[in-house]
Amino acid sequence: MVWWSWLLILGAGLLAVGLYDLMQSRHALLRNFPLIGHLRYLIERIGPELRQYVVADNDEEKPFSRDERRWVYATAKNENPYFGFGTDDDLTEINRVVFRHAPFPILEPVPHSAPIPCTKILGQWRDRPGAFRPKSVVNLSGMSFGSLSGAAVQALNRGASIDGCLHNTGEGGLAEHHLQGGELIFQFGTGYFGCRDDEGRFCSDTLLQTVSAAPIRAIEVKLSQGAKPGMGGLLPAAKVTAEIAEARGVPKGIDVASPAGHSVFSDIVTLVEFVEELAHITGLPVGIKSAVGQVDFWTQLARHMAETGRGPDFVNIDGGEGGTGAGPLVFSDHVALPFWEAFAVAHNAFAEVSLTDAIVFMGAGRLGLPARAAMAMSIGVDVINVGREAMLAIGCLQAQKCHTGHCPTGVATQSKWLQRGLDPTDKGVRLASYVSGLRRELLRLSYACGVKHPALMGPNNVSVRWVDGRYRSAHEHYGIDPAVTHSQQRVKLIRDALATA
Ligand SMILES: Cc1cc2nc3c(=O)[nH]c(=O)nc-3n(C[C@H](O)[C@H](O)[C@H](O)COP(=O)(O)O)c2cc1C
Repeated sequence: MVWWSWLLILGAGLLAVGLYDLMQSRHALLRNFPLIGHLRYLIERIGPELRQYVVADNDEEKPFSRDERRWVYATAKNENPYFGFGTDDDLTEINRVVFRHAPFPILEPVPHSAPIPCTKILGQWRDRPGAFRPKSVVNLSGMSFGSLSGAAVQALNRGASIDGCLHNTGEGGLAEHHLQGGELIFQFGTGYFGCRDDEGRFCSDTLLQTVSAAPIRAIEVKLSQGAKPGMGGLLPAAKVTAEIAEARGVPKGIDVASPAGHSVFSDIVTLVEFVEELAHITGLPVGIKSAVGQVDFWTQLARHMAETGRGPDFVNIDGGEGGTGAGPLVFSDHVALPFWEAFAVAHNAFAEVSLTDAIVFMGAGRLGLPARAAMAMSIGVDVINVGREAMLAIGCLQAQKCHTGHCPTGVATQSKWLQRGLDPTDKGVRLASYVSGLRRELLRLSYACGVKHPALMGPNNVSVRWVDGRYRSAHEHYGIDPAVTHSQQRVKLIRDALATA
């Protein structure tokens, strides 16, 4: 054969692979970047060998290490999520979490769908007509349509529908993409998207329209978010497409500003009034989401709630390590407490006034990984919210380009071309597999520790290594009273919840 016929065969081969990449729907990256996208898979495959000689180890990348991402990807794809040869972690590092297994673990096999219902009924303490028990202790954290693509929102909602977990809308209003069968928590922030009038003020009629247009089970008032607390936002005109304008209830093609704070309330008394008004007009449980800065806010809120018997049904604590579609570095790096310290502040404030069994504690901040999720539940978190881990499950590569609009896998972009790569049906299944896979690991850890629910793991089961080289219980480490998290009353709540599984 002459040399050019080899070239011809090679060209035809590459063309066939390129066309196949374009048509297939399993891999968003290959759909968006036919042929060259294979390099990523090649590098992923030979990465461990390469890194032996050249670059970083399995735990160096941040915010999610290669090991963590590999676990999420494998779990989402229902592939083998195991690791071979033993740990490559430094077991002597400060803050290292160690679970103390039981000598006689629970022998029952963990069911594949791993049902773990929430230990509390959301809205029960205030007797809301729409009170309910969330079916899953793992749910999807608020990420707005606008920061995420329509295809990504669809994938998340489909996944929520398959798994039965809850999908928080984020503060960008309600879009068609949210209506794929999954149940929702409707969130709004200072821009009141999805519940505003033409001047941008909160409007109860618009809220009622939104609530009646979707399977919304609860409402979340966002006070702040860990990655950028205490600052407003601006959605530039170029990003306000017709679809986004409709979801947010704003004019198309004009800058949209979200102020730093709410205009409906300005202190604890008016915040609680507002929460009660929302619950009254919708009948739904209402909660707040916040990062933790000044401690006084939490002690005063808890005291006011105890005195009046009124206030939010759930408190969702976001750690300073939380993610965002776009935020200033100084805010992401330096404003608000990290999750563990933040949660202790809020939990202790409510413990002081004996309200911890009444309200539901939610949390987010890299909690979508088994060890962190299990430790969070052992110190009193009722519901784990997963944000970026859910993004990883639907194809995110941690390219950290959310703020540019050029996300290569179509997750955090409005580019129609890049979104084309993300097949919501396929990725919805992956999301559901990841969420149930995380619950499965939570149950496996619990069974290994001899208890049937992750929240039953107590100070004897979870310890953290301190600077002096000794291990102390996670409760002691973060300053949380085990007499509160494992009181007879709470253990009964957990056992009752298990009975509904
Ligand atoms: C792309 C993106 C968009 C987000 N949008 C919102 C939002 O609209 N409202 C909100 O309260 N938090 C938002 N967050 C924060 C997450 O809900 C979550 O609290 C935070 O990322 C911590 O969880 P994680 O570590 O599991 O991601 C967003 C995060 C990301 C990465």
